[in-house]
Amino acid sequence: MVGNALTTLWLFAFMAIFCSFDAAVIKDRCPIPSQLKYNYDFNWKSRSSEWNNTNAQPASLQLVLSWTPTFCQSLPQSVQDKEFQCRNSQYFGIVVHGLWPQAAKASSVRAHPRNCRDEKQLNSTFIKRFYCMMPDEDLIQSQWEKHGTCYYKTATEYYENIEKLYQSLNIPDIAAMKSKTKTNVVNAFLTQNPKLLSSAIQVSMNAENQLKEIKICYTLNYQYVRCS
Ligand SMILES: *[C@@H]1O[C@H](CO)[C@@H](O)[C@H](O)[C@H]1NC(C)=O
Ligand SMILES: *[C@@H]1O[C@H](CO)[C@@H](O)[C@H](O)[C@H]1NC(C)=O
Repeated sequence: MVGNALTTLWLFAFMAIFCSFDAAVIKDRCPIPSQLKYNYDFNWKSRSSEWNNTNAQPASLQLVLSWTPTFCQSLPQSVQDKEFQCRNSQYFGIVVHGLWPQAAKASSVRAHPRNCRDEKQLNSTFIKRFYCMMPDEDLIQSQWEKHGTCYYKTATEYYENIEKLYQSLNIPDIAAMKSKTKTNVVNAFLTQNPKLLSSAIQVSMNAENQLKEIKICYTLNYQYVRCS
């Protein structure tokens, strides 16, 4: 009897360790292009839709997650056919869009820190290390320059912190959800992440009411906080 109970206990302990480990590993497993684009540097000054704001003080952080099927559908077919993430969309469900340092009490998007430094193109070893989490070299480069430079000294520091946040989240199986409504997505995240505050998650839908992005808000010390 005691022996049986002990065996069961060990089995549970083993399963708990194995399963949590496995969940983390799956997020790291994806196909990676053998060859990246030649030029994926980002230069906000050459873009009419971009601006800089180096005066705004970061007060909190927003981890922005993106739902691959909706992102890919938003692109013209010819672009979808070229995008590695879209051609391999079954491997990339919820991915990271970026981590955004946010100003307190911002009255508009321009009040947030943005494009604080111009940085050189990240190397391919670096890009490939984070590819499963953010499957696009242009995105990895541009989020670092646009948002990361406003709070972090190096790209390594920026992406290792994003990786920690992403790995620490229990991402619900969105693909398996019959009805991907805002409420259902929020509830699934709250159920799977008991410490997450309902005020620290925001879900946004596109014009066709399809799941687009999920924002999780943190203090500068990476504690969940009400999204401002
Ligand atoms: C924006 O960048 C320019 C350099 O192109 C710099 O002179 C200016 O001070 C920056 N403005 C802000 C608000 O960061
Ligand atoms: C690639 O970039 C990272 C981050 O900047 C750096 O630490 C690393 O040494 C670089 N590796 C190569 C092979 O250049």
